[in-house]
Formats: sequence, C-alpha cells, structure tokens
Amino acid sequence: MTHFDAATLADWDHAHIWHPFTQMRDWLAEDPLIIAAGEGAYLIDTAGTRFLDGVSSLWCNVHGHRHPDLDSALREQADRIAHSTLLGLANVPSILLAKQLVELAPPGLTRVFYSDAGATAVEIALKLALQYWQLRGATRRTQFVSLTEAYHGDTLGAVSVGYSDTFHRFFKSVLFPCHRLHPPHVYRWQHGLSEAEALARAVADADALLRDKGEEIAAVLIEPLMQGAAGMWAQPPGYVRALRELTRRHGVLLICDEVATGFGRTGRMFAVEHEQVEPDLMCVGKGITGGYLPLAATFMTEEIFEAFLAPYEAFNAFFHGHTYTGNALACAVALASLRVFARDRVLANVGQRAEQLRDRLATDCGGLRHVGDIRQWGLMVGIELVRKRETREPYPAAVRIGVRAIKEARARGVILRPLSNTVVLMPPLCITEAQVDFLCDVAREAIKAATEMV
Ligand SMILES: Cc1ncc(COP(=O)(O)O)c(C=O)c1O
Repeated sequence: MTHFDAATLADWDHAHIWHPFTQMRDWLAEDPLIIAAGEGAYLIDTAGTRFLDGVSSLWCNVHGHRHPDLDSALREQADRIAHSTLLGLANVPSILLAKQLVELAPPGLTRVFYSDAGATAVEIALKLALQYWQLRGATRRTQFVSLTEAYHGDTLGAVSVGYSDTFHRFFKSVLFPCHRLHPPHVYRWQHGLSEAEALARAVADADALLRDKGEEIAAVLIEPLMQGAAGMWAQPPGYVRALRELTRRHGVLLICDEVATGFGRTGRMFAVEHEQVEPDLMCVGKGITGGYLPLAATFMTEEIFEAFLAPYEAFNAFFHGHTYTGNALACAVALASLRVFARDRVLANVGQRAEQLRDRLATDCGGLRHVGDIRQWGLMVGIELVRKRETREPYPAAVRIGVRAIKEARARGVILRPLSNTVVLMPPLCITEAQVDFLCDVAREAIKAATEMV
C-alpha cells in the first residue's frame, strides 16, 4: 500500500467517512486515531504507538491480531479462490466449517445458514421462524417477544425486536410491533429486588405473557446471559433455562442471539451451554472468524429445516440470500480459528483471566466512589458509573462520563468504547495475565480521573 502521512489520512477521513454510531460533529472536531497495524492483543497507530485492544475491535477479536494460523489460512485460501456463490454452488471451506460448527453447537442444531453480519443472522432467524409457522399451518404465530433494551443489530427487522428509544426513535413508523419482557436486571430494571426475586418476577412475567398470547407468538428472542449493548446487563443463572422451559411448554420457538456471547466470550463456546439450553435457532457472528472477516451464521433444528422441504413449484424455499454468503476466505479463517481454540485451550485461558479480572476489578474499582455496579460474564464486563452510588443516580448524558473515561484510558494506552455511562471491558480471549493487570490498572486510573473531573 502506498504510504500516506497521518495528517493527510486524517484530512481524508474527515472529508469522506461517516463513522458508525458517531456524532460526526464531535468526530470532525478532533484528530482521529488511525490504526495502521496490529499484533496480538495490541493495536498500533500510524505513529507506531501501541494500545491494548480492550474491546476486541468491537467484541469480535478472539486470538489477537495478525495471528500466524489465521493469517496463513487466509493466504492459502486466497491462493485458491476468494469467493464463489452459494446460490446454486457449494464451496469447500463453507462445507468443512458447517460440519465443525454443527459438532460444536448445542445438540439439535444441525443446519447452518450463512450470512455476513450479526444483524443478518438475526433477520434470517426471524424470517425462518415466521415462514416455519406458516408452513406448519400455525398461521396465527406471527409475533415476536424480546427483552427490554435488547440489541440485535441495525437492519429494520433487528431494530424492531431490539428497539431502543435513544437509537431508533426516527424509524418507529416502519418497525413491526414486538412484545417486551423485562429481564432480571437488578441494578436498573428490578431496582430494590434481590437477584432471586428479580429472577422469579421476570420468569413469572414471561409465563403470563406466553399464557396470554402464546398462540400468536412465533418466537422469543434473547441475548443469553448478557445483554451487551444495553450496557452489559447480566442475567442471573436460571433465566435462560426458565425461558427455554416456558417456550417449550407454550410451543414457541426460542432464538438465542449469540452474536456477542458466542465463540468463548463467556467461558464456554456458547453462552447457552452454561444453562444446558438447546435453542431452536441460534445466531452467531463477530468472533466466528476470530474477528478477521465478516461472517455470520444462523443455526436451526432439523425440524425447522424439514418444514421447508416441498416440491419446487410450491415455492416454499427460503427466499433469502446475501452476495457474500459462505465466503470462502471468511470460512477458511473461521476453520483456522476453531483449530486454535482446540489446540491452545483458549476456553481455559478465558476462565482464568475472567477470575483474575473479577478479583482485580472488585478490589481496584469496586470501592471507587462513582462505580455503581460491575457486571461480568467471562471476558465480558460492564462497569456502570453513577453520580451517586447510594441512590444509583445516573450521570446526565451531557456529562459524557463514559466518553471521558475512555479518553483517559486511551491516554494511558488502552482502547475502550463505552455504552453510555458504562465502561465496557471486552479484551481478546488470548489476553495474558500481565495484560489483564495492565487493563485493570488503566481502567481504575481512567475512571478515577474521569469522575474526579466532573
Ligand atoms: C447480541 C448482538 N446481536 C447482533 C449484533 C449485530 O451484529 P453486527 O454489528 O455484526 O450486525 C450485535 C452487535 O453488537 C450484538 O451484540
């Protein structure tokens, strides 16, 4: 690649790129940090400065940047072919990957439909659920249930089931209605209840809704164990299991969106394993390629798959596809990533590092005056900052406390991205003991500095 100096690149970025989830007025007022390279858990900017990638390049990096196995899988596949379509053709890496994914997935999920983003994996699950019930003759099952403040991606179907007023109010007129369940999130939604009471109430609410509307519901859709974008809302053990039992009892499909939690993030390959839950449909993305390339997959049961089998002229096929579905480069890298998972005992590292993180955060951050709550499942952490601990009074949006904290972290060598007033820590799964210590040191100092300022 031709070399351009950082100032020129910054000018061109400002002139042409609209960054996602970004108030561009703020973006244009500052010099962008431009990443030029990566190495392991580190990102390296154009000046050669190294930053710990504390959010895994938006929750997707697994084994680190420039991993030799993933790099060489990519090169080797590029020497064969980069892409051919799955419409009317098959390709080698997508077949090998599907076989391995099914072996790893919870029992019962035997089929894989590929796409290229978490949002598309969710759209596919929703459409499959709708068509499945139509094909089965249960024509009244046309509605969905999801969790309050759920996030499932930014396409319109995913936004309908994951509605958040702050993000989505401009699109309300075109979204389909969806039933909401309050999750057992103790700190904000079930304020004043113990975890056990919140869980009992959330389960009772789900039971009441399904008893009342069950025959009109196509599927319940959840982010199992941790609602990520809501602000890392952890669910107590038992919730996912209870929803599985209720959906079975009421004949409703359960869709688990493991786009953020899948591929080791919570310490198991998939979060539902913690609860021995077998969903009817499961969506994965992000970490599937180790964080290298856009690839996603929607898993489903044989029963759902078989409902679509019919004579051609019945036109019962699933009329859905994306140009890059089953992309060979992405599938080859995903296969390499799965080999690394097994060979390097990555999940064991997640367990150890998660424990270390839990202990360090409890001692270092738990006592800070403006830390309201620390929520964690595996290497997925949210530290909620509050103006007053006693009353859980949030900081007003204008204070931008999360943004202040991550700027302080960046000045100390760690890249983070907040969710409103919650500082997120989501390091790559390959993070070492020393790097966890560094991450915790910086998180503590950054939170102290940011909260002392206002
Ligand atoms: C649970 C969940 N589902 C879906 C998505 C959307 O994924 P993508 O950004 O790849 O469309 C995300 C992204 O953060 C997510 O956390």
